[in-house]
Amino acid sequence: MAKKPSFTCQACGAAHSKWSGRCEACGAWNSIVEEKPLSAGPASKTLGGRRGTPVMLTDLATEEAPPPRARSGVEEFDRVLGGGLVPASAILVGGDPGIGKSTLLLQAAASFARNGLKCIYVSGEEASAQVRMRAARLGLTDAPVRLAAETNLRDILTTLEAEKPDLAVIDSIQTMWADNVESAPGSVAQVRAASHELTSFAKRHGVSVVLVGHVTKDGQIAGPRVVEHMVDTVLYFEGERGHQFRILRAVKNRFGPADEIGVFEMTGGGLAEVANPSALFLSEREKPAPGSVVFAGIEGTRPVLVELQALVAPSSLAQPRRSVLGWDSGRLAMILAVLEARVGIPFAGLDVYLNVAGGMKISEPAADLAVAAALLSAREDVGVPPETVVFGEISLSGALRPVAQAENRLKEAQKLGFTTAIAPAGSKFGEGSGMQVRTMDDLVSFVGEVFGA
Ligand code: TYD
Ligand code: MG
Repeated sequence: MAKKPSFTCQACGAAHSKWSGRCEACGAWNSIVEEKPLSAGPASKTLGGRRGTPVMLTDLATEEAPPPRARSGVEEFDRVLGGGLVPASAILVGGDPGIGKSTLLLQAAASFARNGLKCIYVSGEEASAQVRMRAARLGLTDAPVRLAAETNLRDILTTLEAEKPDLAVIDSIQTMWADNVESAPGSVAQVRAASHELTSFAKRHGVSVVLVGHVTKDGQIAGPRVVEHMVDTVLYFEGERGHQFRILRAVKNRFGPADEIGVFEMTGGGLAEVANPSALFLSEREKPAPGSVVFAGIEGTRPVLVELQALVAPSSLAQPRRSVLGWDSGRLAMILAVLEARVGIPFAGLDVYLNVAGGMKISEPAADLAVAAALLSAREDVGVPPETVVFGEISLSGALRPVAQAENRLKEAQKLGFTTAIAPAGSKFGEGSGMQVRTMDDLVSFVGEVFGA
């Protein structure tokens, strides 16, 4: 029986029975290609493959320990990698154009090179002279990094095979071009092929590769999601335009904790590490005002204090505005609904704006209570008590749920001069943070105690 042709979206992997210009599953254009079905396998008696020899797990233990991770000395970068660079690993660094990916990786490569690693920086976007100019601006001209300007994948792999570096940076994966794939550089098929070649090269030859990937408007690495599956570690480099803060965030890491962040500041001389992000995020804080609340959060393994700002104003729209920056809009809708249904405070007819200061993005549900506090403070035009941090998760019933690492949150707050914390009852605080903690069971008692309503 002849097999039906099968068409697969190269961006999301969805299968279709016929070709079309746009994938209905993910919305990508020109991503559907025909994939020839595999010929029927050999009869089961003679599979015809080569026999491998599985190794006993217990035998592996006697082998020597894995080679140590290489540290760049850029603490914020090493931490996001999970404590340094694992040999023969493949890392994807994604981010908006112009956010500073090339700057970050040139600086990181230079630091690794100064620590004795052999590093090659392959630029498909700039000529070597331009990269050198950038390096001069960053004060890196003494670092023994090898530069190459090349886009042909075959040439790059041949070079890497001959040079045998410890680390190769490919900037960017969208400019790479495999001559055995018939589509333009930057297309899904090319990005996929180039990523596959480079990651398997990394494993075979013990070279760590860093792939730089541009992100599309909706925040995905241009081209296939499958690239994220191919690599060991996926890092996103984020920041708001107009802010000098940049955050390197691990979203996947086979060799370390995901959700770890590294904080940098873009300066005239490149990216500077920010060892104490809380101080930086709060440094822009004006006088405490209604609508402003400090949230004691945890990012990865580190406590980080950030300011949440809310504005609530009468709306002239039939459907009032709900505008959020740095937090999930669905979660905001939920908190507004809980405030209305469980505490009887309506937001109908009011525009609501919520902003996480400093260009941070928060994904922790532990920010719920701080968001509710900011919203109420803005709505009632009453400031929360000064020198106070807030954290806690809100459930649909209006109850407050304890969150993890309460003690670390308190310690960080105390370090930055805060004296009081508002937290859910049942949180585990440990001993002696020196903070005064006001615990509450539910949103109703929170509103009563803090806003006297
Ligand atoms: P770049 O690393 O080229 O971004 P990407 O590779 O992500 O596209 O960074 C570009 C921006 O960074 C550019 O707007 C200028 C700014 N920049 C500085 O502010 N200071 C510096 O020292 C450097 C090198 C760049
Ligand atoms: Mg660049």
